[in-house]
Amino acid sequence: MNDLERNQLIQEINDLRKQRKAVILAHYYQPGEVQDIADFVGDSLQLAQQAAATEAEVIVFCGVHFMAESAAILSPDKTVVLPAPDAGCPMADMVDAQSLREEKAKFPTYKVVCYVNSSAEVKAESDICCTSSNAEKVVNSLPGEDILFVPDQNLGEYVAEKTGREIKVWPGFCPTHHRITKDDVLKSREQYPQAKVLVHPECRVEVWQQADFVGSTAGIIKYAESSPAEEFVIGTECGILHELQKRCPDKKFYMLTNMVCPNMKKTDLKKVRDSLLNLEPKITVPKEIREKAIGALEKMLAVKK
Ligand code: 13P
Ligand code: SF4
Repeated sequence: MNDLERNQLIQEINDLRKQRKAVILAHYYQPGEVQDIADFVGDSLQLAQQAAATEAEVIVFCGVHFMAESAAILSPDKTVVLPAPDAGCPMADMVDAQSLREEKAKFPTYKVVCYVNSSAEVKAESDICCTSSNAEKVVNSLPGEDILFVPDQNLGEYVAEKTGREIKVWPGFCPTHHRITKDDVLKSREQYPQAKVLVHPECRVEVWQQADFVGSTAGIIKYAESSPAEEFVIGTECGILHELQKRCPDKKFYMLTNMVCPNMKKTDLKKVRDSLLNLEPKITVPKEIREKAIGALEKMLAVKK
């Protein structure tokens, strides 16, 4: 696409956004051109908060399926569209409602803390949701309870360490983050001895134990922005570089290894324009699932910052 075509497409998106009274939400892992046309770019928690609070009539969710589904649960009267309908999250697919019910039957007293990277059906079986930026606070909001954490084993282990609690973790993982090893961190330290290593808690335990900072995408950006350091090694999906470079143009960022979430890269400007034009593909959640799932999301949003 040349510059003229791109500018025309952006103009169409802007006109349609007004006509449809739409808000465009984008995750930090989205392609840069998509982040640039969004009304709001954020981490999973910030996007869920925006989706719950928006007065727009249409939410265009530039992210993956579970994010748009959470928006549809939180804002049932709005039209929620996901420009790339095949953008799933392999980690979310690693737990299903039936397997979770079977596990709950084995441990009936346990509270289920469910990472938002999960289906509406799984949220419907859970006591409370969390994201990577509030998981510690969510677990602390359940004092004295036994906890089953689904589906991310690495985030579950991280929260167990942060809270000093014993947590039963589901064996799910993010293929993009779980691939990284301690060796990758050690090599990056040799290559960039001055750099701080910032990683997402979806990385393996052996990886986050070696890092200078562990946090959500928004947490990593905030750390890099406020740190006096000038070089950083980034251990999360490469889409985050777009915002990091915007906010910190004089700092240097290196990827820990090549980290790409193929699903996050399925959105493009044409798909955003088409989703606004056709109000498709719509994401909806059946009423009986929605009514059970909303409690877990609302409890998460009520946990104090
Ligand atoms: P954040 O909550 O940090 O935005 O992460 C979402 C995600 O999918 C990480 O892989
Ligand atoms: Fe899912 Fe991993 Fe992609 Fe995040 S980066 S959406 S957890 S596959």
